[in-house]
Parts: sequence; C-alpha cells; structure tokens
Amino acid sequence: MGAGKTRLGRESAAQLGRRFVDVDSLIERRAGRSIAAIFAAEGEARFRALEEQAVAAALSARQPAVISLGGGAVGSQKTRALLGAHRVVWLQVDPETAWARVRRSRRPLARDRSAFLTLHAEREPLYRGLADATASDATGIVLAAGGVHYEAGALERLGELVPGEAAVALAADSTVLALYGERARAALGRRLLAVHELPPGEQAKQVEVAERLWSELTLDRGGTLIALGGGCTTDLAGFVAATYLRGIDWVAVPTTLVGQVDASIGGKTGIDLPGGKNLVGAFHWPARVVIDETLLATLPERERRQGLAELVKTRLLAGAPLDQRAAAAYKTALCLEDPHDRGRRRLLNLGHTFAHGLEAAADYELPHGEAVALGLLAALRLSGRPTGEVEQQLAPRPVPVDAERAWAALLRDKKRSGAKINVVLLGEHGPYVTERPAAEVRAALEALIAVG
Ligand SMILES: NC(=O)c1ccc[n+]([C@@H]2O[C@H](COP(=O)([O-])OP(=O)(O)OC[C@H]3O[C@@H](n4cnc5c(N)ncnc54)[C@H](O)[C@@H]3O)[C@@H](O)[C@H]2O)c1
Ligand SMILES: [Zn+2]
Repeated sequence: MGAGKTRLGRESAAQLGRRFVDVDSLIERRAGRSIAAIFAAEGEARFRALEEQAVAAALSARQPAVISLGGGAVGSQKTRALLGAHRVVWLQVDPETAWARVRRSRRPLARDRSAFLTLHAEREPLYRGLADATASDATGIVLAAGGVHYEAGALERLGELVPGEAAVALAADSTVLALYGERARAALGRRLLAVHELPPGEQAKQVEVAERLWSELTLDRGGTLIALGGGCTTDLAGFVAATYLRGIDWVAVPTTLVGQVDASIGGKTGIDLPGGKNLVGAFHWPARVVIDETLLATLPERERRQGLAELVKTRLLAGAPLDQRAAAAYKTALCLEDPHDRGRRRLLNLGHTFAHGLEAAADYELPHGEAVALGLLAALRLSGRPTGEVEQQLAPRPVPVDAERAWAALLRDKKRSGAKINVVLLGEHGPYVTERPAAEVRAALEALIAVG
C-alpha cells in the first residue's frame, strides 16, 4: 500500500508494450462497487475471497501483462502458489513514505498510522520470500521483467544472485580473470565447481573454443554457467549454455560497456564462422544478468567508446537522454516484446546497415563502435534530423575504405539487391523501419567514406 504500484505499473507496462491490470480496479469492476463499499457491507474476508478470484483471473490471461496486486493479496496461499509461475517484483518503499501517501486515501486498512506501520512490517517477510526481484521505479520493473539485476558492488553478492542452489561453473577471458577472478571465486564460494579460461576478444567466439568448453564442463543439467566478461565472453558462453546437454541455465555478468548496455541483454548468443560474424547461435535468455557498473573502472578508454556508440544509439531510439541503466532497460523492453527478432527489435539496428558495410570493407579492422557512430550519422541524415549529438559525443570521422566493397557488403548484409533497401530511420514519433531507394542509401554510405 502506498508503494506506487498503480503509477509504476502503468509506466512500466507502457515501456514493455504490455497490458496493465490493476487488481483493485478489476475487483471493483467485477463487483460493481468500490472496495470501501465491499469492506463496509461484507467485511475483509469477503473482500479477500473476491481478490483471490480476481488475481487468478488476471494471472491466467494468455497475453503477458504487468499486474499490480494489492498489498494484502499475497496473504492467500492460493495466490502465492499461482505466483510461482510468474515473475514477482517487490516495489520497495519505506513505511513512512507509504503512510504519507495513503493517509488521506479512503483505503480501509490505512486509517490509523500505527496499525498501518504494523501491517507493513508484518507483510514484509512475505514479500521478501516471494519476490524474484526488487524495484523502486518503472525502469527497475522493466529490468526485473527481463531478469536484469542492476547494483553497484553486485559482483560481491554473485553467490546470492545466481538463481537456485545448484553448482555453477565460471567462464571468463584471461584479462577479466586476472582482474576479477578472485572476487568472483570468493563470492561464489563452495557452489563453484570449476573456472574455464577463454581467450580475450573475438577469438573466444570460435567453434574450437566452444568445443573445448563443451568438453571441459562438468556441470549436470541442473547447473548454471556464469559468463563474466565482455560481449565475446557472454556470446560464447551463452551459446555453449544453450547447447551443452541440450541447454542449461546461464548467468551473464557483463564487464564492458558494450556488454552492460547491449550484448548481455536480449538472449542472443553465438559464435563466428570463417565466412562471417555471429553466423551460428541460439536465442537463450540468461536466467539472470548481473550488472555491476563499478567493474567498468578498469575498462580501457578504447573499449568504453565502443559501448558509448550503442548508448548514443539507444538515446536516439528513445528520444531521451537515458542513463546507462535506463538504456539497458530500453533494450530489455524491446527484446521482451520481440524475443526472436521478428519485428520491433529490428529498430536496434539503427545505423547498423551502414556500419556493417563499412566494417566488412575495412576487413573488420574498423572497431564496431566507430562504424556504428558513422552509421548513426547516415541514419540521421536520411531521417532529415540534426547530427549534432552524434558528432559531439562520438566524433565520427570518415574512413578510408573502398566504396564499391562497402556497398557490396551492405547489399549482402541486407540479402537483397533490388531498387529499394530497408533502413531504420527516426521520425517524429520515434524509430521505424522503412524502404529507401538504393541510390539514396548509397549516397548516404559514400558520405561516410574518406576520399583519396
Ligand atoms: N548478443 C548480442 O546481442 C550482442 C550485442 C552486441 C554485441 N555483441 C557481441 O559482443 C562482442 C563485443 O563485445 P565487447 O565489446 O564487450 O568485447 P570483448 O568481450 O572482446 O571485450 C573487450 C576487451 O576488453 C577486455 N575487458 C573486458 N572487461 C574488462 C574490464 N572490466 N576491464 C578491463 N578490460 C576488460 C576483454 O578482455 C577484451 O579484451 C562482439 O563479438 C559482438 O558481436 C553481441
Ligand atoms: Zn552494434
């Protein structure tokens, strides 16, 4: 009561593109009168029975929704059992703030301060026992919906944050192991069965490395593989988790900015083939993503800039100055809406059509972040929008690559050669996928290439 369930529920549902169901309103609609009237005429026991039925109805709907439960709803054993199949987010609020919010309401159980505070204290252990995650704002609810835990210092609590009690194995590249291996080992304690060292960078995303990890792993099907590192580590380890014993749980602990705003979120895992990047993989959503921003303190500036390009991309998509946590939530929401990348998730490709063309023409010597920065310029120009933000934050510089090769690679990436090309652009009301004439797209690409 007074935690802001209705407001935050509605806000997070809008971000997730889901329906919002407020159980209290549902009870009133079903009963045809107010909760206060039900309490007054028939007492609390009758209200709880109606509430139990309304919760069961809301939880049985097939379409995913954000459902706000009244503070006392989890007093029902039946409701608690039903919640086991859903993700439960505990909206934490300090009791005095909650009281200040509800004291003037006409809620039957908020008429007396000391009774209210006693009730709050009594319910707390119940909430603690049921919650999969805690949150205090809409962004937190969205992150919780995707299993993303965001906390400075979370590495030290990794043992508690990996769901379940079963054995775990840790995979990390040699650089990350040297920096954070000891702390991760200490946090995992006796649950940790083995540590698997991977080569740093893109070399990890090779079938030989996957094969080695498949063979080395001693986890059984109940075990969890923890990937500690950048996008290369989480892509490889996530893919191994998706395939080892036909799939085991995994937890991502991203240590790069790319990882924390992009690669660890959304369940895409994979490895490279000689013919191209990410050509083999699986959708396998991690059981949890643990984001500890303090791990970025050791990240070289060069690597940070890679992530900055994706962060600026996300701000453009959202049309708002998101911080890192809100950017992670933005991607989480899009991916939950479209887990298999068949619709809205394509919006995340803003600037990437151009970036992929340039990267291929540079034989992948051009860092992805720099290519994305240039691609964003092209997308903004085609959208007829100002490029100031990208120029200031990312300072993209034209690259000396062969224009013919870049164009051929762009067409290959799009798997088409017709007169029109699909691109993500920004409009008045946000991003959208559209077709543009090939000549226009080619001109935008060529403007990114240094001549001479
Ligand atoms: N699955 C997805 O949705 C998705 C999305 C975006 C990118 N990706 C993939 O992610 C990969 C790129 O990820 P990346 O940029 O994180 O690269 P990375 O994993 O290679 O890490 C970059 C370098 O930083 C080092 N490093 C990592 N954390 C560090 C830390 N805290 N301090 C110091 N050094 C650290 C690593 O050892 C490595 O050398 C690409 O292969 C890309 O395809 C995947
Ligand atoms: Zn990217």
